[in-house]
Amino acid sequence: EKGGYEHYMRKEIHEQPTALRQTLSGRIDLDRGDVDLDVDFPQGYLESLEEIQLVSCGTSYYASQYAARLLEEIADVRASVEIASEYEFDGGRDPWRTLVIAVTQSGETADTLSAIRRAAGAGARTLAVTNTLGSSVTRETNDTLFIRAGPEIGVAATKTFASQVVTLALLSVAIGRERGTLSTANARTLLENLRTLPGAVQQVLDEEEHVLEAAREYQDSESFFFVGRRYGYPVALEGALKLKEISYDHAEGFAAGELKHGPLALVSEQTPVLAVLTAGSDGSETVNNLTEAQARGAPAIGTVSDGLETKSLDWTFEVPEADVFEPLVANVYFQLFAYHVANLKGRSIDKPRNLAKSVTVE
Ligand code: F6R
Repeated sequence: EKGGYEHYMRKEIHEQPTALRQTLSGRIDLDRGDVDLDVDFPQGYLESLEEIQLVSCGTSYYASQYAARLLEEIADVRASVEIASEYEFDGGRDPWRTLVIAVTQSGETADTLSAIRRAAGAGARTLAVTNTLGSSVTRETNDTLFIRAGPEIGVAATKTFASQVVTLALLSVAIGRERGTLSTANARTLLENLRTLPGAVQQVLDEEEHVLEAAREYQDSESFFFVGRRYGYPVALEGALKLKEISYDHAEGFAAGELKHGPLALVSEQTPVLAVLTAGSDGSETVNNLTEAQARGAPAIGTVSDGLETKSLDWTFEVPEADVFEPLVANVYFQLFAYHVANLKGRSIDKPRNLAKSVTVE
């Protein structure tokens, strides 16, 4: 059942190229520079849309943060994201013009269900983005968009994060095209980049040995910091969550620019800093923040793409070219790093202590 892998988590990390192909399958129309999603919004709905609110928890919340930026940048629509348990709906004068999207792998997360009920109750239109056919969220929302990642057994979400972001990227294209804010040419470029992702992720997976070496070198650190800007910021948060939940080591993600506003006080030789330095993440600015951490002795580990000066880094992981999706590809290095640190420590990777795959209490 684990197909020769010792853990579901590692199997699911390696399934990402396939999962992403499924996510994209039959949905891209390069000729028209558009997408075909199995969601039919009412005639004129997307044009009259005022705002999109994404609600979610944990890893799905970080996928939502990535997606909110995509929606703003690609579709030019106002998009915000809120942790489901903190969410209060405010839909202005015409709540129906706010689309509230519940992003939930399992479709059963109580906090997310309760948030979407509040929004629906106040008159918003709702959409579920989920991996699970027939799940509760699909019965609570006006429409459902499936991410098609295939079943995820490991408690730590991996392939579903990638498929959530890609599904919401497709939705961004659909909305941008419908509203006329995204040109055919720009849509084609985005869709071509999306199509390269399965191959790009495979290239990262082929570097697993290199990640294992880094995990060996840094496994005994006191604490791990993850930093990034723009699309790299949610990936930094997600990298830290993955590491802490399966290795039980302290890990924290920061917006790279925030390091100097406090966290730098914690930095030492014992706190490696893992950074997203790819396209879509203003890597050259983040390198400056990393240098400050290195000056306090911290090892600097960078996920990098072409053209960035990386001589000063202690460790580099190469990310293939994919424009704003490069941080999503870089995330696969963070998944592998978390996995190997936890595995070297003999942790219960697929069922970490105190955690459950779907959290059905508020
Ligand atoms: C982290 C993790 C959790 C879930 C969160 C939301 O690896 O698995 O943080 O992401 O509980 O779950 P869903 O997406 O099922 O709503």
